[in-house]
Amino acid sequence: MSESTKLRVGIVGAVRGGGFIAGLREESERADLVAVYDPIPASREAFATTNEVEIICESFEQLLDHVDLVILASPQQHHTPQAIAALERGIHVLSEVPAAVSLDQAQALVGAVRHSSAMYMMSENYGYIRENLIVREMVREGLFGSLYYGEGEYLHEMKSWHTLPDGNPTWRHFWQVGRDGITYPTHSLGPLLQWFDDRVVSVSCVGTGRHTDIEHELQDTTILLARTLKGRLLRLRFDLLSNRPELYAYYSLQGTEGAYEAARTTRSEAVVHLHGRSPENEWEPLEKYADRFLPARYRLGAAAETHWGSDSWPIRDFIEAIVSGTTPEIDIYAALDMTLPGILSEASIAQNGAWVHVPNPRFFTAGIGVEPSREAPLA
Ligand SMILES: NC(=O)c1ccc[n+]([C@@H]2O[C@H](COP(=O)([O-])OP(=O)(O)OC[C@H]3O[C@@H](n4cnc5c(N)ncnc54)[C@H](O)[C@@H]3O)[C@@H](O)[C@H]2O)c1
Repeated sequence: MSESTKLRVGIVGAVRGGGFIAGLREESERADLVAVYDPIPASREAFATTNEVEIICESFEQLLDHVDLVILASPQQHHTPQAIAALERGIHVLSEVPAAVSLDQAQALVGAVRHSSAMYMMSENYGYIRENLIVREMVREGLFGSLYYGEGEYLHEMKSWHTLPDGNPTWRHFWQVGRDGITYPTHSLGPLLQWFDDRVVSVSCVGTGRHTDIEHELQDTTILLARTLKGRLLRLRFDLLSNRPELYAYYSLQGTEGAYEAARTTRSEAVVHLHGRSPENEWEPLEKYADRFLPARYRLGAAAETHWGSDSWPIRDFIEAIVSGTTPEIDIYAALDMTLPGILSEASIAQNGAWVHVPNPRFFTAGIGVEPSREAPLA
C-alpha cells in the first residue's frame, strides 16, 4: 500500500486512546496515526508527544478534516453523536464501548450507519482475550455440543474513578454509577454472544441494594438474566462498588457435551470438561487445547499489553475489513446486540425485575423512511 492510499487515522480521547497504539503500529503499512483530539490541551499535547502524532486538534470537527478513520475513545455518552458526525462525512468509525447510552441514540446510530458510505465497528476487545478466542473456536468445532447456558461477570471496584481529586464528578459518576442496571454490559455479554451466535430478546434485572457506597444510584451488585432468540439463558453479574479485588473477565458456558469455566481469581486457571474426552468427572486446563484451537491470526504480532493482550485486535480487524471491503467483526447490529440489553436492564430493574423486551436493531427504521417487516428486515 502506498503512502497516499494509507488510511489516515485520528484518535479522540487521550486516555483510553493509548490502548490503540500497539495495534496501529502493527498496521503501519496500511494506516498512519495522524491526528489527536482531547478537550484538555495538556492531555492531547502529551499524547501527541508520546505517540509522535503530527496534528493536535482543538475540536472534534477539526480532527475530522484530517482523517479517513476515527477511533472514538471518549466518554461513553459521546460515542453516538461523534460517530454520527463522522459517518455523515464518510469517515470510518471504530467506537469504544458501549455503542450508545439510550434507545434514541441507538436508533439514530443505525440510521447514520445505513446512510453512510463509511464503515462502523464497535471496539469490544474482550472477545479477543486468548481464552475467549480458544473457547470460540472449540464451540465452532462442536466440542461443547449444543450450548444452552452462559455467564459473564464484570466485577471492578472503581470508586476512586468516580470523582476527580478536586471532588468534582467524572463522566463515570453519572453514566456508570449514577444509573441503576448493567451500565457497562459489553465486556461480559460480547464474548457470550459471539460463542452462542445469538442475540438477547428479553432481560430481567435485579440488584442487591446499596451497601458500600450508598450515594450512588447503582446497586452494589446487579444481576441480569437474559433469554436469547434461540431460547438459551445467559446470566451477567455487574459490580463497580463492592470491596473486593477486580475480576472483570469471568465467563462460563454449558453445552450438551461440555462446560467451560474461566479462572475465577488470579489463583485459579481456566478449565474445561468435555464429555467423553476429558477424564470422567474431571476438569482439564483450557491451555491444553490452545495449540489446536487458537486461530493462527491471533497468535501473530499481538502486543500482549493491557486487557490480556486483547487491545490490538479491534483496530487491526477493522482495518482489514475496510481494506478488504468485508463486514467488520462487530458491525452496528452486533454492537447493539451487545449494548441494548444493558440499556433495557434499567427499565427492568426499575420494575423490580420485570422481563423487558430487547428490540432487534436490524428492524430500526429511524431516518430510513420505509417500514421493515418480519419477513423483510432492512438488514
Ligand atoms: N474496551 C476497554 O477495555 C475499555 C477500557 C477503558 C475504557 N473504555 C472506554 O473508553 C472510553 C474512555 O474511557 P477512559 O478510561 O479513557 O476515560 P477517562 O475518564 O480516563 O478519560 C476520558 C478522556 O476523554 C476526554 N474527553 C472528555 N470529553 C471528550 C469529548 N467530548 N471528546 C473527546 N474526548 C473527551 C477526557 O478529557 C479524558 O482525557 C469510555 O467509553 C470507556 O467505556 C474501554
